[in-house]
Amino acid sequence: MCGIVGAISKDKNIVPLLITGLENLEYRGYDSAGVAYFKNKKINIVKVTGKVNKLKDKLKENESSNIGIAHTRWATHGKATTINAHPHKFKHITLVHNGIIENFNILKEFLIEQGYSFKTNTDSEVAAAILNYYYEKYTDIDKTIQEFMSTIIGSYAIGFIVDNDYENIYCLKKESPLIIGVSNNTNMISSDIRAILKYTNKYYILDDFEYAKIDVSKVIIKSRTGDIISKELKEYIDEDANSSKGHYKHYMLKEIMEQKETILKTALPFIEDGINSLLTLPDLTKYKEIDIIGCGTAYHAGLVAKYLFTELTNTRCNVYLASEYRYQNNFLNKDTLSIFISQSGETADTIAALKLVKKKKCPNLGIINVKESSMTLLVDKCLYTKAGNEIAVASTKAYTAQVTILSLLALSHGYRNKTINKNQVLEVLKEFKNIKTLITPILNKKETYLSIAKNIYKEEDIFYIGRGLDYALSMEGALKLKEISYIHSESYAAGELKHGTISLIKKNTPVLCSATNDKLNAKTISNLKEVLARGANVYLITNTKIKDDSFKIINIPKTSDFIKPILIVIPYQLIAYYTALLRGTSIDKPKNLAKSVTVE
Ligand code: AGP
Repeated sequence: MCGIVGAISKDKNIVPLLITGLENLEYRGYDSAGVAYFKNKKINIVKVTGKVNKLKDKLKENESSNIGIAHTRWATHGKATTINAHPHKFKHITLVHNGIIENFNILKEFLIEQGYSFKTNTDSEVAAAILNYYYEKYTDIDKTIQEFMSTIIGSYAIGFIVDNDYENIYCLKKESPLIIGVSNNTNMISSDIRAILKYTNKYYILDDFEYAKIDVSKVIIKSRTGDIISKELKEYIDEDANSSKGHYKHYMLKEIMEQKETILKTALPFIEDGINSLLTLPDLTKYKEIDIIGCGTAYHAGLVAKYLFTELTNTRCNVYLASEYRYQNNFLNKDTLSIFISQSGETADTIAALKLVKKKKCPNLGIINVKESSMTLLVDKCLYTKAGNEIAVASTKAYTAQVTILSLLALSHGYRNKTINKNQVLEVLKEFKNIKTLITPILNKKETYLSIAKNIYKEEDIFYIGRGLDYALSMEGALKLKEISYIHSESYAAGELKHGTISLIKKNTPVLCSATNDKLNAKTISNLKEVLARGANVYLITNTKIKDDSFKIINIPKTSDFIKPILIVIPYQLIAYYTALLRGTSIDKPKNLAKSVTVE
């Protein structure tokens, strides 16, 4: 996934606008960046390998232009090199692209037969070449774009400019997000409205197979057949206007600490007036089964929900990785509710899975954090998490917000299903209202997490284990550590270790575990003894009194299963953070990753 931005202005130098836009889009990818702009009627292109600040340094001081496009990349086809960076210029066409052109090889072969030659192995250069091919064939932009749309298989959000056409930026999209920001005398395109809020909060959302011609004073949006269409001009209200790091060293730490507020903010609409508020959540009793689909951390939130629905509401619940779900037989039917979880609302695999369910006209629900994101426009109903802008690539406050919504959904369902009585419900609602008091002491154990980090940060292999709900949490704990510290960390069902993986346990291998289920704890402790016997160092998160000096124990308060996942994950988040801090990695923007994975 990549970030694209473009700007055309009657009275502003748009180069700084493009750079600011890219800086706000780096969450979508940051291995290379570039900008193309008209200067003295010629298109200048400046590209770098690395982050946007390197592009800024390479641009001449006060470089100016009134029309340009820019791109920050997460490499899909072709290494992160300057030549593979966007914008790509192919004769008359200069473009920036987010997405994947799936039939680029066949198209490249066709163009080579037409005498075309290429500088890169990227699909995006082929996209530029195809646009150029049709532009030379028809010289008409509408026909060029329409033919392009008919030719391309895959996903794209494209902005492009044309030699000698100093008045217009063109853009088109299919499956990858693209908006058009409008203001007096300056119009912009962007992968995300939040990236250009400094310049405007008024914008159009392009839908699939729509395209636009943009000049300094007007935006003409057309359908695939070339008919002009009028779109609703939206206004983005940014509740996180000042999402800066503040006094924190990293966004990730800030966002972990913000959970003192964001969990309650997410829960409040469904708990403030007790059971009445809770029952405003969708009634799931009409469904026989619940499928939950997501990727990464969102998938892990789904695993927590699976436990809650299955064990506490007696409802069959299946959780799927979106990238698997979209290619398997899913026995979709109207009695199954499909719940899609996504922080960004832009994850390509999750969107594709959602489109499958919609195509079969089956019921679906979204649990999403970013307003107006692609998925919010596709789901039957959206339950917003209120985590606010999550800037760090490693998801923390969004995860606990997702778990909050899922927990309350399961709680309301259990109440309706009569598997959870009124007193139990009131007890859980009280815990949610008291969440800040419950988690603040856990958040404040910095010295504990730092000492664990000091013990593990030089290790090459680290294991996270657990049973039941604790196993689901071990997956999230392992992902947090690996994605920001780059240490190979693996989650394993505690009872499964002895079936092979325990062969990897050696002296000082760190094993992190949570044991919070009175029915299962004795078994888990036995598994911990097994790894201890092979030299492991064990770090145990638990809500029961376990007297055993062979474990480094982190105690958390005893609560219901609906709150427990939130209390368990916080130590895992902070151990990952402090371990990465000691390793000096790029915590907010880890290598190879991006915040929103808009390609498959
Ligand atoms: C989690 O820390 C990662 N950033 C990643 O696994 C993420 O959860 C996944 O890509 C799903 O993103 P989404 O919630 O925006 O769909």
